[in-house]
Amino acid sequence: MQLSLKFKVLITLFILFSLYTAFVYTKATAGATFTMNDDAYKGKMLYQKFNCTACHQLYGLGGYLGPELTSAYTQKAQNDAYFSAILKNGTVRMPDFNLSDNEVKQVIEYLKYIDQTSKQIPAY
Ligand code: HEC
Repeated sequence: MQLSLKFKVLITLFILFSLYTAFVYTKATAGATFTMNDDAYKGKMLYQKFNCTACHQLYGLGGYLGPELTSAYTQKAQNDAYFSAILKNGTVRMPDFNLSDNEVKQVIEYLKYIDQTSKQIPAY
């Protein structure tokens, strides 16, 4: 039986698509692993407990009263003092959550982790 040219092209494209898909879902994302340390994980729990997302966005999702925090660490903080001052005292529009020094450290660690994931995927 003779296969038509159209059918051969279809089969070829399908095979190429499958190979490409397999590559994208395995090898291509292999370098994109970020690890969250213990403090960052506790910071994440605090972020959820105090519902920071009501006012802040991460990866574009969340409330709009406060600024987007995904890459805020790189863009605004440079060191921990700025975030620490805001988290300890609140501002006119942001409440003071009475976080302990250790909790402030953990939240900052979480925001640093998020910031890291917002950068270019590391080369592998
Ligand atoms: C009621 C809304 C609200 C909640 C809830 C809130 N924030 Fe904010 N936050 C703000 C606003 C508004 C600002 C901007 C400072 C200002 O204008 O007062 C801000 C500023 C910040 C900043 C400085 C960001 C920058 O780019 O300058 C950080 C960091 C931050 N908030 C973290 C948090 C964390 C962590 C939580 C949860 C524990 C939280 N916020 C909960 C409203 C909120």
